Amino acid sequence: MKFGTKAIHAGLEPDPSTGAIMTPIFQTSTYVQEGVGNHKGYEYSRTHNPTRSALEKNLAALENGKFGACFGSGLASIDCIIKMLNPGDEVVSTNDLYGGTYRLFKTIFEKYGLKFHFIGMQNAADIEKYMNERTRLIWVETPTNPMMNIIDIEACAKLAKKYKAWLAVDNTFATPYLQRPIDLGADIVMHSVTKYLGGHSDVVMGALVVKDEKIAAEMYRIQNSTGAVCGPMDSFLVLRGIKTLHVRMQRHCENGTEIANYLAKHPKVDRIYWPGFENHPNHDIAKKQMSGFGGMISFTLKGNKIEDALAVVAKVKVFSLAESLGGVESLIGHPATMTHASIPKAEREKSGLVDSLVRLSVGIEDVDDLIADLEQALK
Ligand SMILES: Cc1ncc(COP(=O)(O)O)c(C=O)c1O
Repeated sequence: MKFGTKAIHAGLEPDPSTGAIMTPIFQTSTYVQEGVGNHKGYEYSRTHNPTRSALEKNLAALENGKFGACFGSGLASIDCIIKMLNPGDEVVSTNDLYGGTYRLFKTIFEKYGLKFHFIGMQNAADIEKYMNERTRLIWVETPTNPMMNIIDIEACAKLAKKYKAWLAVDNTFATPYLQRPIDLGADIVMHSVTKYLGGHSDVVMGALVVKDEKIAAEMYRIQNSTGAVCGPMDSFLVLRGIKTLHVRMQRHCENGTEIANYLAKHPKVDRIYWPGFENHPNHDIAKKQMSGFGGMISFTLKGNKIEDALAVVAKVKVFSLAESLGGVESLIGHPATMTHASIPKAEREKSGLVDSLVRLSVGIEDVDDLIADLEQALK
């Protein structure tokens, strides 16, 4: 099946008891057994729940993996990956990554004897310098938040294989519609389902997809043992959201392209970070590994004044000033004072995250209204 058909049908069957076409919300903690151990595959909802199972199968199909697992948040799914490692193991991670992932690695797991190397990965050849026989995992986020840096997934997969390590890719920004890391050699794909997969800003959830049976067994053992699962109502909402993922992503890409081109001509805009531009670093790799460039765009203002950026985010009317991304509605944010405020100024400026940087999550409204809104806000 092709992507759009899989988004609507993969892993889903009409409910056998009623014929309901939509997977029911199995709002139950337990399942009656006819005799001890004689059950229909479900014993307790931490371990398995039919609504969650349907979503896990659907996600595995969309990522061209074999096994999916859903969690209470994106961070809970990353937590599951790191719990597969042992004290003394090393992780080579991109240094331009979601701040919450950095906080999890640094403040939760370092004290259990894991070693994290945070490095620039734009040039894949630099990664090998940090790899050795203790390296168990390469952690990649591409495109990154908010600088939209692109990392070569295929090159990282080759390196991971050479050192018998795993490659895990946070595919939140691209979604499987635009990028399928398992096809490029990754071992684990991770999502903040909260974003484009849910797509309607009404759920917090995470997911992992893998192909290898041994990794899957560990993933399910940890999912069940630590219990950071999502509920059936949220699973239902995401199943419903995913049915339009391909249509939404198409429109996010179209609107993203128009807005990036509009900003490129605006006299007050200085730099634009969007992987679709030929002069964007690693644009060729983005073209190779993504089938579109998405609706996440960051830009800076000429003069680089924080007050100018704050005025823009205050003046918008169709865009909403908020954290998060990937919903149908357009959002605007100021990373230096919002999502990345915890990073010291000197440190964040090294990667280009300056005071006037504004981040857009371009939604699927009529693009003319979005451009008119930016026009009046930039005046
Ligand atoms: C790229 C990326 N990865 C992971 C996360 C964490 O996901 P969650 O907020 O669902 O825990 C986020 C959240 O913003 C994110 O943007």
